[in-house]
Amino acid sequence: RLLEFNQGKLPFGAAQIGNSFRNEISPRSGLIRVREFTMAEIEHFVDPDEKNHPKFSNVADLDILLFSSKAQTSGQSAQIMRLGDAVEQGVINNSVLGYFIGRIYLYLIKAGLSKDKVRFRQHMENEMAHYACDCWDAESKTSYGWIEIVGCADRACYDLSCHSKATKVPLVAEKLLKEPKVVNVVQFEPNKGAIGTSYKKDAKLVLEFLAGCDECYITDQEKLLTDKGEFSIETQGRTFKVTKDMVSVKRFQKTLHVEEIVPNVIEPSFGIGRIMYSIFEHSFRKREGDEQRTYFSFPATVAPYKCSILPLSQHQEFTPFVQQLCECDANSQIKIQHYEV
Ligand SMILES: *[C@@H]1O[C@H](CO)[C@@H](O)[C@H](O)[C@H]1NC(C)=O
Repeated sequence: RLLEFNQGKLPFGAAQIGNSFRNEISPRSGLIRVREFTMAEIEHFVDPDEKNHPKFSNVADLDILLFSSKAQTSGQSAQIMRLGDAVEQGVINNSVLGYFIGRIYLYLIKAGLSKDKVRFRQHMENEMAHYACDCWDAESKTSYGWIEIVGCADRACYDLSCHSKATKVPLVAEKLLKEPKVVNVVQFEPNKGAIGTSYKKDAKLVLEFLAGCDECYITDQEKLLTDKGEFSIETQGRTFKVTKDMVSVKRFQKTLHVEEIVPNVIEPSFGIGRIMYSIFEHSFRKREGDEQRTYFSFPATVAPYKCSILPLSQHQEFTPFVQQLCECDANSQIKIQHYEV
């Protein structure tokens, strides 16, 4: 349905937020390891042959701390890299994945994480799900050490293929071919009357099975049909005999203008609780010279208290100071040397 909303075209995406559950044997570490947590995710579907993001250039110049699987295995430390170079050099598999890594980074910084306490760690070959083609975790440095807060995986066509297989509903996108392609088609041509007479209410099972056979199988059965006049099929644990009068084999050519592809999915998923916890730690401050006086320095986007600057006087001399105050964010320090009222 999402594909339809997008007029049948790739790429398209969906985003959602909700509760996730996992079977933690021993939940501890306070807010970090919990059995129920809020997760937000994006499922971004792309053509596997065109894993280029048109907006990648918007994030290509970001310098991000990357901990590649290669660095991890060879005992090197994480390195600050320009995102564009990381994709070009194949450290990050493709620019769609690279684009989301960039956007995740910008989001985390905007929400209040410290630049020097955020890194992206690539999954090693042995920790990556076998079907994924690349996976990076955004990690934040906290008093618990580096913790995973966002996952960003290229899950290829795995999820859609599995759903399709289980539900027998094709989850494919059509792609216009540059040039029409002529293909040979081989099909069973069932004689519904004969099959119906022989198998009554089971006829549907037989017909469904015959409709789903591939060329190789059909060619083998055709040989049996010619030699012995029949062959057997097995479906849903039952065996049916198919005879010459029930089926024939039809061969023809077809011109294709579109091809069907299973979209690949890039999946950023955000652990909201862990991100919040990281914001708390990274925004925690103590007043100089007075450890008892502590506070949070949240960016305005996430701060629970908003404030506004309302001048009490229309005096012209105030204007530059008021402007300066309005423009500063929570982390700026401005010192107004003196003023006269
Ligand atoms: C990206 O992943 C695909 C699929 O796993 C692989 O064939 C390709 O070599 C990878 N490219 C790079 C640059 O790692």
